[in-house]
Amino acid sequence: MNITQLQATAKAMVAKGKGLIAMDESAPTIAKRFKKAGIEDNVENRRAYRQLLLGAPGVNNYLSGAILYDETIRQTTSDGVPFAKYMEKLGIIPGIKVDKGVKDLPGFPGEKVTEGLDGLRERLAEYASMGARFAKWRATLAIGPGIPSSYCIEANAHALARYAALCQEADIVPIIEPEVLIDGSHTIQQCFYATLETLRVLFRELGAHRVFYEGTILKASMVISGLESGKRAGVQEVADATVSCLLNSAPASLAGVVFLSGGQGPEEATAHLNAMNARYPNLPWPLTFSYSRALQEPVMSTWKGSSANVAAAQKQLARRAKFNSLAATGAYKAEMEKEVA
Ligand code: 13P
Repeated sequence: MNITQLQATAKAMVAKGKGLIAMDESAPTIAKRFKKAGIEDNVENRRAYRQLLLGAPGVNNYLSGAILYDETIRQTTSDGVPFAKYMEKLGIIPGIKVDKGVKDLPGFPGEKVTEGLDGLRERLAEYASMGARFAKWRATLAIGPGIPSSYCIEANAHALARYAALCQEADIVPIIEPEVLIDGSHTIQQCFYATLETLRVLFRELGAHRVFYEGTILKASMVISGLESGKRAGVQEVADATVSCLLNSAPASLAGVVFLSGGQGPEEATAHLNAMNARYPNLPWPLTFSYSRALQEPVMSTWKGSSANVAAAQKQLARRAKFNSLAATGAYKAEMEKEVA
């Protein structure tokens, strides 16, 4: 384990005013998203779309890195340049999703555990040889009557910690992503306690597995009301609750915290990140974005699978990436949304 290298990579991932784009949708997920946008799901469309995202003019001013899917890291640009090489040239650090998805947790109805530890050491070595410098593993925790259970929180924390330790052994920065899901009618208070418990158990497990926090990035879900809760908490309340939850669970030595959008709309996700940075400018760690849907929704719906729309779609990405970059320093204003792409 090269601690200096891990620390340098982690720091660069959360450099001031920069964030990540998650473009690691699995085959079934991208198929669903393409279908919604009226795009045919085939290998070439997936490749062309990922090239559209990475090659959008100017986005490398706002993006420190991108999380790729296994298929993408093995693909090339239309000129035959492997995506990881193409990204390094643009100054976008290549990362890779390495979990194998969520499966039902036996004996615990409604709860999931993430698979993918078997053979992970060998897969990490291969991804490192292809240029990946960080990785991602996502666990999901649902809120409902009696859940998340302590067992589900512990099973997922244990897997996340085993994954993180294997990453660091391979000089790959682990992004640890315990996503407390937004689905449901829960209140922001219920989300706060579920997230707090999840993060406390997670950091205890990471410590037990001798994971080095300065070379680790937390990808957190925001503390937020459920999508079906009648009255949803406002922007400041989300910012305050999320920061309080992190301060009560995450070690100060952690390299950084990035957020997933998790079903929030693009403007909502930007406003929440901005409020946290504007209200709490002196936190122990940088807070930035690692969005998939909140960055990509306007891009996909503009592209529609047509080469004629590539430039317009790329402008949509540059616009959202810029707004989130501003939000990462608390300098975003809602009025900016009136600017046309
Ligand atoms: P969303 O921003 O769409 O939640 O995706 C982030 C992610 O990486 C999910 O694993």
